[in-house]
Amino acid sequence: MMNSLTLRRPDDWHLHLRDGAMLKGVLPETARHFARAIIMPNLVPPIVTGSQAMAYQGRILAALPEGAVFEPLMTLYLTETTDPADVVAAAQSGLIKAVKLYPAGATTNSHGGVRDLTRVYPVLEAMAKIGLPLCTHGEVTTPEVDIFDREAVFIDTVLDPLRRAMPGLRVVMEHITTAEGADYAAAGGPDLAATITTHHLIINRNHLLVGGIRPHYYCLPVAKRESHRQALRRAATSGLPCYFLGTDSAPHVDALKEHSYGCAGCFTATNTMPLLAHVFEEMQALDRLEAFTSLNGPGFYRLPVNEAQITLVKHEVPQVFPEKILTEAGPVTVFNPGYPVHWHVSL
Ligand code: DOR
Ligand code: ZN
Repeated sequence: MMNSLTLRRPDDWHLHLRDGAMLKGVLPETARHFARAIIMPNLVPPIVTGSQAMAYQGRILAALPEGAVFEPLMTLYLTETTDPADVVAAAQSGLIKAVKLYPAGATTNSHGGVRDLTRVYPVLEAMAKIGLPLCTHGEVTTPEVDIFDREAVFIDTVLDPLRRAMPGLRVVMEHITTAEGADYAAAGGPDLAATITTHHLIINRNHLLVGGIRPHYYCLPVAKRESHRQALRRAATSGLPCYFLGTDSAPHVDALKEHSYGCAGCFTATNTMPLLAHVFEEMQALDRLEAFTSLNGPGFYRLPVNEAQITLVKHEVPQVFPEKILTEAGPVTVFNPGYPVHWHVSL
């Protein structure tokens, strides 16, 4: 039985850090284990220009605990008025590593997102030319489409037509939650990849709804039925280069999660690596954890892999993780898998 595992230091290819007091409270949780993260731009107001991304990057670096080594990889929030020249300049200076597409209304702070995709074609053409990835929140927002079908319908009616119309555009399907998403990513060739969250490997929609509503399991895209969770577990542990970790760790204070109109997001920054070790061990794929967390992401983003390492250790006794992170914005509940976890990152 393997009880210790040393990996290249992982990266998180999809992370929400927010700003101000929340940023200060949650950033140490990611920087403790991760070398880099793709930082989501859905602040209020969103990060839409290169100069806003540069200022936000400065605020993230300023919020790092002393001695922490962590590189925020910045993104821009795509709008129908995004200037292609600004995107290209921000990419060519090395500041941004991707642009994020939120269909308007799909999730937290997405009302400024894109309604008519053809209006952003000039931006997407410029991105295709320079190889800058488009990160997609892959859900349609059409009210008639059932929330559990929104990802599959997005693939058929938005993503696939877009990729045919825009050859060469590099796309990351963010936080896939379905077998359809996993299959589409695997068949897409070198310009298509998919991130998978920690929580979608652990919960299905029963965890969210059976025996009482569990607001800390509510996220978007919403967790699907068990067969989809199983497909995601096979994908993440497959070792295929198109799949890599994007936690989508998305902090909201408890008062806004435990609310009659609760916010979407699971906060997994604190315990993601032990949880993944648990899942990969269950799948008898611990030898593929490094590909998922530390190799496939840099491969797709054309960045060097990390030289530093971390070691995961499996202990006899279940490990204790904090139930909440106490930020100056308020308490944030840490994702609880609902079972004991014996893995721990030894620092
Ligand atoms: O659960 C989610 N939370 N999904 C998203 O797409 C956005 C995120 C957030 O920003 O809270
Ligand atoms: Zn997200």
